[in-house]
Amino acid sequence: MIRISKLAESVKPSATLAAGAKAKALKATGVKVYDFSLGEPDFPTPAHICAAANEAMEKGQTHYTPAGGTAELKTAIAKWYGRTYGFECKAENVIVSNGAKHSIHNALAATVGPGDEVIIPTPYWVSYSDLVSMTGATPVLVEATLESGFKITPEQLKAAITSRTRILMLNSPSNPTGTVYSRVELEELVDVYLENTDGCILSDEIYEQLVYNDAKATCVVTLRPQLKDRCITISGASKSYAMTGWRMGWAVAPVAVVKAMDTIQSQETSCPSSVSQYAMITALESQESAPAIESMRKEFAARRELTIRLLQAIPKVKLHVPDGAFYAFFDVSAYNPDSVAFCNACLEQAHVNLVPGIAFGAEGFVRMSFATNEATITEGLGKLKEWLAKGV
Ligand SMILES: Cc1ncc(COP(=O)(O)O)c(C=O)c1O
Repeated sequence: MIRISKLAESVKPSATLAAGAKAKALKATGVKVYDFSLGEPDFPTPAHICAAANEAMEKGQTHYTPAGGTAELKTAIAKWYGRTYGFECKAENVIVSNGAKHSIHNALAATVGPGDEVIIPTPYWVSYSDLVSMTGATPVLVEATLESGFKITPEQLKAAITSRTRILMLNSPSNPTGTVYSRVELEELVDVYLENTDGCILSDEIYEQLVYNDAKATCVVTLRPQLKDRCITISGASKSYAMTGWRMGWAVAPVAVVKAMDTIQSQETSCPSSVSQYAMITALESQESAPAIESMRKEFAARRELTIRLLQAIPKVKLHVPDGAFYAFFDVSAYNPDSVAFCNACLEQAHVNLVPGIAFGAEGFVRMSFATNEATITEGLGKLKEWLAKGV
């Protein structure tokens, strides 16, 4: 008899992927579905990056690479941090993984285990608590509210720190709320953290290039000199470069952490895709990348404006205005406080697919991805409004 392991049983399936699958099943029956569930840009990967992948294949760059990525790509990533944030790191501080989710998993597997605590501000990206639980460590949730702009305070952070605290996870710009902490707000959090524990910070900055109006992403490790030894920075290509399927993510961390992650990775996946790695060097270094990213960002900015305007026109919906990423997170509890029931009914009756807030640790809310065209946003939110007006 085959038994399912405790590890497998401790993990919930990704709610966002499950929501996407439900919408696809309904679509297959011929229904027009407005799918706002998936967190991926709908743009094609910029052509110059695809051309670099073709060239890599033609040149025979189709074999295993070192487990943690090629030296050329690690150097390109280190240089990018130097150019972008003035953060001087070296190739030996970088590990490339099969997507940022994989980097986060390996960073946690390399640094925490049973008995350790990992502080996660809520609402949080769906995978954080499961990735922590898989290591045997305990997620400690700290609740940020709509009223606080979905930002935790230094006092809340201090109260959550114990002698078991090993990691604080930060994610600014945030999925699901789009919240972007200011540099000063992050400094205050970091100072409280550094004063009260010897644990480290895992800062997931994957949406760093998708910020709007005056909002600015901060590279947390640059905030205080001590963080160079106590911070793991995560990022990747999926969101800013429209490269979700290429599976390119990375961590920048102290050498001992990179080495431990490298060992884990060598036994798990051997290495990230060679072709993706060669294309990633072009993504980071080509002069064509900045305008390509900026044109996508501008498109997201216009969709964000449209989304905000349409959601603010729906009675009893309380919207948090996002400053980054490509999500709107809003309170629908006046209609139904059970976010799963709300989303199921919304998909079945209005054919609008949203993700329940409970998956992000925030009951009563739903997440809408605006990484889709303006016509879909306008029609879909029109359907949502009509449906809500009927009284759910
Ligand atoms: C906050 C956050 N971190 C990490 C990831 C993982 O991205 P990937 O594994 O595609 O690089 C995502 C994807 O949705 C995300 O929203």
